[in-house]
Amino acid sequence: MARTPLLMGNWKMYKTVAEARSFAESLGQQSAALVDGVEYAICAPYTSLHVLRVMLPANVKVGAQNVYPQKEGAYTGEIAPGMLAEFGTRFVLAGHSERRMLFNESDQMVNHKVRAIAEAGMIPVLCVGENSSQKQDGITKEVVTGQVQQGLDGLSQEQVAQAVIAYEPVWAIGSGKTATPEDAQYVASEIRALVADLFGAEAAASVRILYGGSVKPDNIASFVREADIDGALVGGASLEPSSFVEMAQALK
Ligand code: G3P
Repeated sequence: MARTPLLMGNWKMYKTVAEARSFAESLGQQSAALVDGVEYAICAPYTSLHVLRVMLPANVKVGAQNVYPQKEGAYTGEIAPGMLAEFGTRFVLAGHSERRMLFNESDQMVNHKVRAIAEAGMIPVLCVGENSSQKQDGITKEVVTGQVQQGLDGLSQEQVAQAVIAYEPVWAIGSGKTATPEDAQYVASEIRALVADLFGAEAAASVRILYGGSVKPDNIASFVREADIDGALVGGASLEPSSFVEMAQALK
């Protein structure tokens, strides 16, 4: 089954509303360079989601970076899935390593988020990856497949088929170091094999797997040409419209 490639930016805690507006304007002026047949998305801070939703070119979707897995209630400071779905948020990240590390998010909490995102009709982007000591210990596959198994637990086959899994080695995030395309492909193929075991061949053939970690315009092509890598989740290099467009061009 053909999977639509996905180029997704994760802005983390960068950009004011004014800066997001100017990004959207600039990307709009270059929208002809966003090649067809690719899906684009920007996961922005909550404060910039509305302006992006209104101003980004129609083929660039909006994503959130977090959500709280309750319908509503006394959860001061949190945002519910339905609030994000209401105005057209398509994707929501869950399990990014910064949230796992800085905010102590457990696999169980990540799973609650993934389920809540899917139940609200949005697409969960489950982020997984080993840290440097786990890599040195040679347990990358065990760590990553464990995170995937726990993260997707309780989803239906259809929900998994729609979902996105981002393999982001923790040591590669913001470091300028990347996995080799061969290593990233190996991990992506193990993720797909696990999804086949747990949710069936059809879900495995449809689920999109991204690589993330120091992806840039000059290295993105080497990842997305791998058989099981369907796109990239990009931090720093997604902040500039020109490099976003360059990465889109590399997906041709
Ligand atoms: O979610 C994207 C990410 O963590 C990678 O960040 O800056 O290494 O592309 P960066």
